[in-house]
Amino acid sequence: MQLPATPPLDLTALFGGTRQRHWLEIGFGGGEHLVWQASHHPDVGLIGIEPFVNGVVSALGHIKTAGVANVRLWPEPAAALLDALPAGAFARVFVLFPDPWPKLRHHKRRFIQAANLDRLARLMAAGAELRVATDDPDYGHAILAGLLDHPGFAWLARRPADWRERPADWPPTRYEAKARAAGRNPMFLRFERRG
Ligand SMILES: C[S@@+](CC[C@H](N)C(=O)[O-])C[C@H]1O[C@@H](n2cnc3c(N)ncnc32)[C@H](O)[C@@H]1O
Repeated sequence: MQLPATPPLDLTALFGGTRQRHWLEIGFGGGEHLVWQASHHPDVGLIGIEPFVNGVVSALGHIKTAGVANVRLWPEPAAALLDALPAGAFARVFVLFPDPWPKLRHHKRRFIQAANLDRLARLMAAGAELRVATDDPDYGHAILAGLLDHPGFAWLARRPADWRERPADWPPTRYEAKARAAGRNPMFLRFERRG
């Protein structure tokens, strides 16, 4: 994938005119979740973002094994691509286990913060779903606070199980497995883009 000289990126052309709906995964790690979603939703065009080269290589392997043709990869940090994508283009966005940066002086590096929530709000269509997971309680509270405070998003949880249990159409990631092996219980947060 390359950025166009004149944004926004043409998503229809990016997927060869074959996909009507588009989803985005930011920080896909090894790509297991990205490719699972692509193979279970062949009608959707998925863009995956991951700057860590080993993760991109792993994702390419999963793409080849699964034989999916509806994934495009951006092997760089997210910001430049997010700013080049068209407004309201995405029906679903995944940010699964973003780096927690636990030290106070590093909190400014966290992905989920006001500037990026504004970016996501711009990209998501009314009624679109944002899925965020974390195993870090402090980051979890900051994520919730940021999204509850943002006028563009509404939290979809109605009962504790809604954030304690992963929905069936959300396969576990490698990072989730590590967190559970270390005895940490993740939070699974789902938000709707307000109309
Ligand atoms: C803790 S890992 C989680 C990976 C994967 N989502 C999972 O659950 O297994 C966080 C990922 O975010 C990626 N990442 C860090 N900064 C990023 C950025 N600016 N844009 C996109 N991805 C980023 C990292 O390279 C890393 O793979």
